[in-house]
Amino acid sequence: MWKIHNKLLIYLLWIMEIRLVSSFVQSSKLCGRIPGLTPPQRQLCGETPDALIALGEGYQLGAHECQYQFRGHRWNCTQVWQRNVFAHVMHIASREAAYAYAIASAGAAYAVTAACARGNITMCGCDVRHKAAETTASTKVAAAGGASQPAEPWKWGGCSADVDFGMRFARKFMDARELEHDARSLMNLHNNRAGRTLVKKLLRTDCKCHGVSGSCVMKTCWKSLPPFRLIGDRLMQKYHKAKTVHAIRGKRGLKLVLSRRKHAAQKSQPSWPKRMELVYLQPSPNYCERSVQMGTLGTVGRLCNHTAHGPQSCDLLCCGRGYNTQQIRRSRQCRCQFRWCCQVECDACEESYEEFTCK
Ligand SMILES: *[C@@H]1O[C@H](CO)[C@@H](O)[C@H](O)[C@H]1NC(C)=O
Ligand SMILES: *[C@@H]1O[C@H](CO)[C@@H](O)[C@H](O)[C@H]1NC(C)=O
Ligand SMILES: *[C@@H]1O[C@H](CO)[C@@H](O)[C@H](O)[C@H]1NC(C)=O
Repeated sequence: MWKIHNKLLIYLLWIMEIRLVSSFVQSSKLCGRIPGLTPPQRQLCGETPDALIALGEGYQLGAHECQYQFRGHRWNCTQVWQRNVFAHVMHIASREAAYAYAIASAGAAYAVTAACARGNITMCGCDVRHKAAETTASTKVAAAGGASQPAEPWKWGGCSADVDFGMRFARKFMDARELEHDARSLMNLHNNRAGRTLVKKLLRTDCKCHGVSGSCVMKTCWKSLPPFRLIGDRLMQKYHKAKTVHAIRGKRGLKLVLSRRKHAAQKSQPSWPKRMELVYLQPSPNYCERSVQMGTLGTVGRLCNHTAHGPQSCDLLCCGRGYNTQQIRRSRQCRCQFRWCCQVECDACEESYEEFTCK
């Protein structure tokens, strides 16, 4: 029990952007003692501490994916999760902030859903709407089974991912800190929703054949989570197509509307961003220089690629400041041979290559 609490606490502190305080570790009234939780978050914590462990895993999933997608870019997503200051580093309501919120929220929904299916969370399990008993054999082909295949009888079976629980949990917890009701919190809420909804959109249908020697007389199908990489890739496409918005005051408070380019024809009707689009309020800084105020680290000293084109190239990454070239020598095992019996003997080979870092 203590071990679980300890682990949960570490995740929670991390989620809530506060440093580990050792005196909390042995606390039995865990949720009541964690500073920085909003009342709804505190209540959720009390109801389902096991889901919060999954939430922590989801955050990590989001962080790794974000860093993978932006590897080599000027903004590379490291400082966002690196320290315990998720929200506050994203001072600027930029396109990058939109991606970070969406992937964090998708990670949370994904990990909670996966934990439900593993049986790690007491309050959820498999999606009961896709249960064997409730659907009788049908001659339709399962959604992802491919329309080109001949129709075969199939039924729901196995454990379908309960993505609705995961999404609901992620929404309750992640959205619970956007309390300001200003343009920025509307932006965060919109991107949070786009992220977690994408998990549901990308659910796949997996099927298994039954019958004598794989003759597929009958198929059992279930909904399963796609690899998280697919979600990261799709969000990256959405990042490139993200829309600028601003807030206007409507009858029921602030709303986000699409900002138009100056030259575009002025229509009187405002248009709303689509639910699955990423939105942002401010242009991105160029991320070239270090600035505490902007929350940017700059690109001095970053490794760049002098043959590549695109964001990783020395031209773009170094912002035109130029780069240093360094000869690196290292020795490596080579010409390995197997000697009877049982040894492997290798030579040491010298290898040299160049490394380029931004000035
Ligand atoms: C979740 O499930 C996995 C595999 O079933 C298990 O190894 C792990 O300890 C569980 N974690 C928690 C926190 O229950
Ligand atoms: C990401 O950028 C930061 C700051 O520019 C740098 O310190 C870090 O090494 C970079 N990480 C990777 C994986 O390139
Ligand atoms: C640099 O870019 C080239 C071309 O895209 C690529 O083939 C090469 O592997 C890259 N080098 C490094 C060190 O990433």
